[in-house]
Amino acid sequence: MPSAIIVGASTGIGLALAGRLVAAGWTVTGLARSAAGLEHAQYRHVVADVRAASYRDVLAAASEPLPDLCVYCTGIGHELDFAQPTRESDVFATNLVGAVITAEVIVPRMVAARAGHFIGLSSQADRIIDRDAPSYAASKAGMSSYLEGLALACRAHGVAVTNVRFGFVDTAMAKAPGPKPFMISADRAAQIIERCIRRRPIRKTYPLRMAAVLWLVRWGTRIRIWAS
Ligand SMILES: NC(=O)c1ccc[n+]([C@@H]2O[C@H](COP(=O)([O-])OP(=O)(O)OC[C@H]3O[C@@H](n4cnc5c(N)ncnc54)[C@H](OP(=O)(O)O)[C@@H]3O)[C@@H](O)[C@H]2O)c1
Repeated sequence: MPSAIIVGASTGIGLALAGRLVAAGWTVTGLARSAAGLEHAQYRHVVADVRAASYRDVLAAASEPLPDLCVYCTGIGHELDFAQPTRESDVFATNLVGAVITAEVIVPRMVAARAGHFIGLSSQADRIIDRDAPSYAASKAGMSSYLEGLALACRAHGVAVTNVRFGFVDTAMAKAPGPKPFMISADRAAQIIERCIRRRPIRKTYPLRMAAVLWLVRWGTRIRIWAS
């Protein structure tokens, strides 16, 4: 029976993926700060905060024996608020540093076993410069670059690393007001991740129509920066 660990499994895409994997016969360990969002004989939940000093040890224990798959679904995003400056570093600690610590704990053991798959949920926001939520876009830029570099390093060792870049997904994270073109459901996002588990690409961008919109946004921002 294949096994997976999902970090950020209490809600949203991580929860939808956990549900799909147990239904397909996987055993799944989920981590999050909240209690389990799923009850199933093949699901085990561990309460953990990726920003806590204990996270590395908690993850090491939770990932024993080494699972076939690790998916980092944890993420937060905040609009820039000068009255709450530390929220900016919280976003980097959760989205980027948490992902790197997770890879540090899991990937070397996969390399030693010459088997395994590490998936990180970055975002199509990784290519934009965002005045409303600069920490979110920048943390995802770092995450995408890290995951794809790691993927190239791991290939020769029989380990796959995949950078998943969604546009808008209908979860708590996408509840801020404003247009959300081409938004997909959390279950559709989980389906796309399942396809990545089978095909093991280095990068998966979905939907591509959203990437075209963001390409235009990127050029608009570049022109504004050049003109400044
Ligand atoms: N929704 C979108 O439009 C969208 C688009 C592109 C990419 N993504 C990415 O997809 C990933 C999943 O997001 P989602 O949309 O499913 O949002 P979500 O429903 O808010 O899920 C986020 C998950 O991260 C966990 N989490 C947050 N902070 C944590 C911490 N310090 N320690 C441990 N777990 C923590 C949450 O659980 P607890 O709060 O219980 O800890 C939850 O399980 C994120 O990386 C996000 O950036 C989302």
